[in-house]
Amino acid sequence: MSGQGASAILDQIFEKLDHIPNFPETAQKALRLLQQEDVDFRELEKIVRHDAAITANFLKLVNSAAFGLPRKVNTLIQAFSLLGINQIRFILIASCTGKYLNRPLKGYGLTPHEVWIHSLSCGLMAEALARRAGLSRPENLFTAALLHDIGKIALDLFVEGELENIRDIIKKNPDLTFMQAEWMVLGADHAIVGAELLRRWEFPKEVYFAVRAHHDESLMLQTRTAALTALANTLTNLMGFGAGTDVFAYEIPDNLLSAAGVAETDLFPSIVEAFEKTEALKAALFS
Ligand SMILES: [Fe+2]
Ligand SMILES: [Fe+2]
Repeated sequence: MSGQGASAILDQIFEKLDHIPNFPETAQKALRLLQQEDVDFRELEKIVRHDAAITANFLKLVNSAAFGLPRKVNTLIQAFSLLGINQIRFILIASCTGKYLNRPLKGYGLTPHEVWIHSLSCGLMAEALARRAGLSRPENLFTAALLHDIGKIALDLFVEGELENIRDIIKKNPDLTFMQAEWMVLGADHAIVGAELLRRWEFPKEVYFAVRAHHDESLMLQTRTAALTALANTLTNLMGFGAGTDVFAYEIPDNLLSAAGVAETDLFPSIVEAFEKTEALKAALFS
């Protein structure tokens, strides 16, 4: 890739983005319906069952121990009647992420399940932190946490060929973060590309800003959603749920906890909860 300007590389990446399918229309419609005060579950069921893959993922996820339903459910309508709106929204987005993230990202050294599990685990971690922190409207946070690494899909096509270069640069300059090395080699990073993808998919600004900010030490302090997304991602990495070759090459600012509004005493119970729920999801999805 040497010899090309950074803007040419960005152009190539965004050209590739056009070939990534739209966020599932089923999910967009369902998420719009979930914004209403009184959600008509029959209407919601009609929309979701349209997409067999999302429906299958939804039922697998909802029946995992992570969501603690009192009994096994076989239909969407049964599931909806036992869940809160935020849980439905969470599981719906989680069901869609499989479509994009349940594939190998060779450049980042990730197998298919790892990427999906990392994203699901980050979503669960964000949920655990937000609940303890008393966040009243966490829906944008769930979306950002579940989709924060979506840019890796597009960049992976480029990272794969350049991974040796990135590793070499980090070896020679140990102070560089993985993102700085990504920039030096690729002229872009997965946070910027992911945010652009979500903007094109018409997600709220709060969501794509948090994705843009999740590795940027100053941007991640600008909104609570961004701070919580970055914190959830960091803790997920520390738990060891599949972040691949870039896992330790990031930095977090000292005041991230206060920007996220999270008490230090809430970290350990959140980590334990997210760990157990992630294991439950893994068992439900892949055993
Ligand atoms: Fe990331
Ligand atoms: Fe991540």
